[in-house]
Amino acid sequence: MVDATTEGNGRLRDWIVKTYILSGEASGTIAMIEVIELTRKFGELTAVCGLTFSVRAGEIYGLLGPNGSGKTTTMRMILGLLRPTSGTVRVGGHDLSKEIVAAKRMMGYVPEEPVLPETLTGWEYMNYISDIWRIERGPQREAEIERLFGLLDILDASDDLIETYSKGMSRKLSLAAALIHRPRVLIMDEVQAGIDPKGAAVIKQITLGLRERGAAILMSTHVLEIAERMCDRIGIIHEGTMVAEGTMEQLRSKAEGEKSLEDIFLSLTGGPDMHRIAEFLEEVG
Ligand SMILES: Nc1ncnc2c1ncn2[C@@H]1O[C@H](COP(=O)(O)OP(=O)(O)OP(=O)(O)O)[C@@H](O)[C@H]1O
Ligand SMILES: [Mg+2]
Repeated sequence: MVDATTEGNGRLRDWIVKTYILSGEASGTIAMIEVIELTRKFGELTAVCGLTFSVRAGEIYGLLGPNGSGKTTTMRMILGLLRPTSGTVRVGGHDLSKEIVAAKRMMGYVPEEPVLPETLTGWEYMNYISDIWRIERGPQREAEIERLFGLLDILDASDDLIETYSKGMSRKLSLAAALIHRPRVLIMDEVQAGIDPKGAAVIKQITLGLRERGAAILMSTHVLEIAERMCDRIGIIHEGTMVAEGTMEQLRSKAEGEKSLEDIFLSLTGGPDMHRIAEFLEEVG
């Protein structure tokens, strides 16, 4: 993990804060994402079960949990891509069941598995997304796309077909697309997965810069170190239920004796079965 204190990163962050995105929000007070008693069933399976949490303007909220614990399902419900079985989602005060369009306008989404049109170039795709958001065509829009591509190191590939993009490049393109309409709410599902160290540092700086400008950011990650370093608050979910929530300090004080986020996470969601691992190793050895 590259530490984001280098001069270049500092400049990048300053630039974001000065020039990019968002009118100033009253950071830390306005709940931009409100999730209340949210439940989603898939047949017999309850993937998300009575989940309640909120993300404020100017806050990075980390949603953590083991594979299959309901993080992506929760995000898809917040985004209006999946209908809840029950419960309420409000984004920027808009109830998703009533004002989905207004809510969607506020959000940018970087999915876990970006589905991109492979027969377009990166540049064409960004213009397509910009048209959807009705961003006026012209030099300003082009400069904005170029700027995002430059920041994310994909400018050289902008005229290549998306089918030629690597996994990391696709994710960067997906992030650029999520940012083009300057969302006040950014939802990122494991955005750092498969990203090179420089890309990860850029994403981190963009995320921190957006937070400073009052964006509400909901992110999931399996890299606990990233969560620990970046998130103002963390929610740990297990089998669709919130098992712990708070700042790192609050989590630490609640978990007696557990020092690292990894310890806390494993004690709440179940650690490796060392006995079975030892048995397996004995057999193969
Ligand atoms: N469309 C679907 N139909 C049926 N079951 C689903 C569907 N989407 C998700 N699930 C189930 O819901 C549960 C939660 O899945 P989800 O993708 O939200 O987990 P996750 O926390 O994002 O996991 P990961 O860390 O692996 O990304 C899983 O058991 C999954 O199999
Ligand atoms: Mg997921």
